[in-house]
Amino acid sequence: MRKKLVAGNWKMHGSQALTRELCAATAAAKPQDVDVVVFPPSLYLREAVQVLAAGGAVGVGAQDVSIHAGEGAYTGEISAAMVADCGAGWAIVGHSERRADFRESDHDVGRKFSAARQAGLKPVLCVGETHADHVAGRTLEVIERQLAAVLDHNPIEAFVSAVIAYEPVWAIGSGLSATPEQAQQVHAFIRSQIRKKDANISPLTRLLYGGSVKAVNAAELFAQPDVDGGLVGGASLNAEEFASICQAAG
Ligand code: G3P
Repeated sequence: MRKKLVAGNWKMHGSQALTRELCAATAAAKPQDVDVVVFPPSLYLREAVQVLAAGGAVGVGAQDVSIHAGEGAYTGEISAAMVADCGAGWAIVGHSERRADFRESDHDVGRKFSAARQAGLKPVLCVGETHADHVAGRTLEVIERQLAAVLDHNPIEAFVSAVIAYEPVWAIGSGLSATPEQAQQVHAFIRSQIRKKDANISPLTRLLYGGSVKAVNAAELFAQPDVDGGLVGGASLNAEEFASICQAAG
């Protein structure tokens, strides 16, 4: 049975004070039987690690890593090795906001996924369709393409520990989540794509849903057979609501 995972993507929000406050509250409210990871802005990774070090129960990750695995003349970039050096253990790659705002291609995401693994980080691979693809009925085609590009750069064994987050772009920040049935349909497809490569690995891979996960809808979403938790944006900045979402996964 896959252990549920709830991840909080703070996006470009926070401060040292808020990092300390949210991390302490999340650690205090974390259910025993649920994995919880927070993704603060990279400037606050060390702060989060230090606050959480005491309990050790809540993980910390970066919202992105450089496509470059090693060091070099890449102004402004943060390498996966630096994230690991801060004590973080996770990295989101391929978030739709980065695919859109920074024109990250499917293959760029595949290389970032590889860079994260090389540094010993667990990747959280974001996949998901735009509203235009959704209305045109191209959701599964998009997901298949995004997954295939990552598998061009990484072995299927990566998905024993790596996590995939299905985030329909049209549900992010909109307050309108996918229905549990819609989420289950895409998650089942994602698991079938993993199964095609290795039937022993597909039952192990944790699949998160992201896109307007709130305290009011989390339990029904997480009850779906192929939904193993959530990647939470806005609600992760509210300690009480994020705690309720974590408890809904328990
Ligand atoms: O990475 C999670 C994020 O994209 C979802 O955002 O605010 O819809 O929960 P939100």
